[in-house]
Formats: sequence, structure tokens, C-alpha cells
Amino acid sequence: MAAWRYVGTLDDLWEGEMRTVNVGAVDVLLCNPDGEVFAYEDRCPHLANPLSQGVLRDGFLTCAAHEWVFDARTGRGVNPASACLRRYPVRLAGDRIYVSGGQVE
Ligand code: FES
Repeated sequence: MAAWRYVGTLDDLWEGEMRTVNVGAVDVLLCNPDGEVFAYEDRCPHLANPLSQGVLRDGFLTCAAHEWVFDARTGRGVNPASACLRRYPVRLAGDRIYVSGGQVE
């Protein structure tokens, strides 16, 4: 079972913001679309562009390279719908954010 890693506080990730943290050997994109924190591999499933170079707006994450769009709350593709981000578990302890290296199934 993967360990939880401390990756920062909610003060580091305001609503509407995203940022990358390293969890083990993986760059993980933290995003806070509307007050809840989600974590995804910072790698677009299309051609591996870092999603952190994209835009988070109105609950959607858009890749900067070719504008694939994902639901920031689920990681599911919006355009194209067949795409899906690799998601990681997030846990809050007060305002402290922890991410597990174990992928959400
Ligand atoms: S690499 Fe993200 S849309 Fe192409």
C-alpha cells in the first residue's frame, strides 16, 4: 500500500489554482477547481504534455498542447470523452494536503 505524502497546505492551492508536486517518481498535478483538491498525473494521455502548462477554468482542465479537455473533478475526458487522467487519492488533515502514490481505480 502506498504511503501518504505531505504536499503542502490549502494556502498553497487556492480555489481555481493548480500546481505540480513530486510524489515518489511521479509529477502530480494538484488542482482545486472549486474548493476541493484533486490530484492527477501531470501528463496528458494524448502525447504526454505536462497538464500543468494548461489552463484550469470553470471546473475544466485544458491541455496546452492540443486542447484536450478534462473534468477537473473526475479526470474524465470531455473532449475527447474516451480520454481519462490517472488519478491519485487526496486526503486533508486540517489544511494540510496529502497525496498517496497509489492510483485511484
Ligand atoms: S498532449 Fe495534451 S492534448 Fe495533445
